[in-house]
Amino acid sequence: MLTGKGLLAGVMGWPVGHSRSPVLHGFWLNQYGIDGAYVPLAVSPDRIEQAIRALPALGFMGCNVTVPHKEAAFQLVDHLHPVAKRIGAVNTIIVHADGTLEGRNTDAFGFWENLIAGAPVTWSAQMAPAVVLGAGGAARAILIALLDEGAPVIRLLNRTRARAEELAAEIGDPRLQVFDWTERDAALEGAGLLVNTTTQGMDGHPPLEINLSALPVSALVTDIVYTPLTTPLLAVAAARGNPVVDGLGMLLHQARPGFHAWFGVDPAVTDALRTHVLGSA
Ligand code: ATR
Repeated sequence: MLTGKGLLAGVMGWPVGHSRSPVLHGFWLNQYGIDGAYVPLAVSPDRIEQAIRALPALGFMGCNVTVPHKEAAFQLVDHLHPVAKRIGAVNTIIVHADGTLEGRNTDAFGFWENLIAGAPVTWSAQMAPAVVLGAGGAARAILIALLDEGAPVIRLLNRTRARAEELAAEIGDPRLQVFDWTERDAALEGAGLLVNTTTQGMDGHPPLEINLSALPVSALVTDIVYTPLTTPLLAVAAARGNPVVDGLGMLLHQARPGFHAWFGVDPAVTDALRTHVLGSA
């Protein structure tokens, strides 16, 4: 129930109907009994500047920004959080009291919080090389998270090798090593973490083609795909004894900093939330 004082936030996307964010934030607003609303905002690319600039005038506390607006938002905000600057994209906007807009990117945070929540207590990013498959926007945030958490080496492989080379050069950390896509089975040797950021394994796409024989059974395996929740990669990894973490939690955890900034509560990621978000598909 909204009063005239309800706090407002939302998600700008085009299209926006597929976004799970309204269901997710709506669950938390209800759980914490907050007088506020989080709404889907269908904003076309030619109006994204107008829409973002209108946030303070409309009294919004801020918003999330999704495909295809993350790069435009990066250009349009007044201040960039350092992590957003490194990722080159904004997914969370906070309206400050003086009416200025701060752009953040919470994908690296979401990836890491999800990983660590599901990892065995003995697991650490510093123990062994990580293998990251894919070189899109999600991969960039994941690389930054792993570098910040002290990964000694990250082996980066992408079907289009040039894209991986470009991403590694842009990030510019010597711990990033690019390998050819054809070397992916061998790249698993001695690894402590395998992350799939490609679309392979998603509903409607073929499974990721990879042979896990060289991967130590102690290695953590995670997939950012969460439709299905158990991708073929995660199923094969779990069957051979690897600890696995599914991708839904990355979506849930990346939403926490925005909710906290707009509504004043750092919300919990619980099984009830997972069930609610999954049930809303
Ligand atoms: P993002 O939203 O993360 O930016 P994207 O740019 O669509 O997503 O990237 C999807 C990832 O899946 C890319 O790394 C892509 O590889 P390419 O850069 O070669 O396109 C990867 N991908 C898509 N189809 C693939 C396939 N059949 N085999 C292997 N990787 C694939």
